Amino acid sequence: MRIIRTRQELHQSIKSLETGSIGFVPTMGYLHEGHLALIQKAKSENDFVVMSIFVNPLQFGPNEDLTAYPRDEKRDLKLAEEQGVDILFLPNVSEIYPVPLSTTIHVEKRVDVLDGEKRPGHFDGVATVLLKLFHLVMPNRAYFGQKDAQQLAIVEALVEDYFLPIAIQRVETVREADGLAKSSRNINLTVDERKEAPIIHQALLAGKKCILDGVEDETTILAEVQKTLGKVTKKVDYLALYEYPSFKAVTDFSRTLILAIAVQYEKARLIDNELIKRGEENA
Ligand code: PAF
Repeated sequence: MRIIRTRQELHQSIKSLETGSIGFVPTMGYLHEGHLALIQKAKSENDFVVMSIFVNPLQFGPNEDLTAYPRDEKRDLKLAEEQGVDILFLPNVSEIYPVPLSTTIHVEKRVDVLDGEKRPGHFDGVATVLLKLFHLVMPNRAYFGQKDAQQLAIVEALVEDYFLPIAIQRVETVREADGLAKSSRNINLTVDERKEAPIIHQALLAGKKCILDGVEDETTILAEVQKTLGKVTKKVDYLALYEYPSFKAVTDFSRTLILAIAVQYEKARLIDNELIKRGEENA
């Protein structure tokens, strides 16, 4: 595995691959099995896998967890190597943002709900860094987890808007045995919060069942979810149902829907979702 920290070295390394497809896994590090699933899918579909680890300051709001975001470079290097990553790009902030930006990427659609609404500017920061990383890596395919479904839909739109020749690949959420979605932020849960957190997934499954059973009234569905989610002791940031991938209000229950929850724990904000399509076990 080549470990690369500068744009110039990355450029040379990518050029030296000559022929063969590149699968790109952008991450913010503190790797967990969710990331490893992205790497495995990328490996199975490409000749080379490039992974980036960059905690992008631009996507954190002033009161968010940028400094508390977990980091462990040594462990990440070992895991990436074991998984067979070919090139690991670990830039520092000045490598990605050498000068203040003269232009900005502003996401227009799908940001009036969920994390777009709760974290103003977050998806502008995500889109900006991804545009930069995509230009540096020039991958054929890029891999994103379904846990960040709003991010995934926004990245698909970014690629379409700017004619980027990259296929965006969705990878299903990887879960702990008790259903909690794997996340780098789980490490910041207290022992009691960790015990409680699987309720989020249980609540999503209760809502999913309701929809698959044919209920077509949003209030009834959300009330059913709330019966389980009500046991959460911390602030529920959102509980919402939308059509996917438009993130618009549900007008047709036979379409693909997304049921999404965010819970703000003491030092970790957890998000999770279920994509639901009637007649299909997995949307
Ligand atoms: O999902 C993430 O880890 C980040 O938002 C990403 C895609 C690496 C951009 O910084």
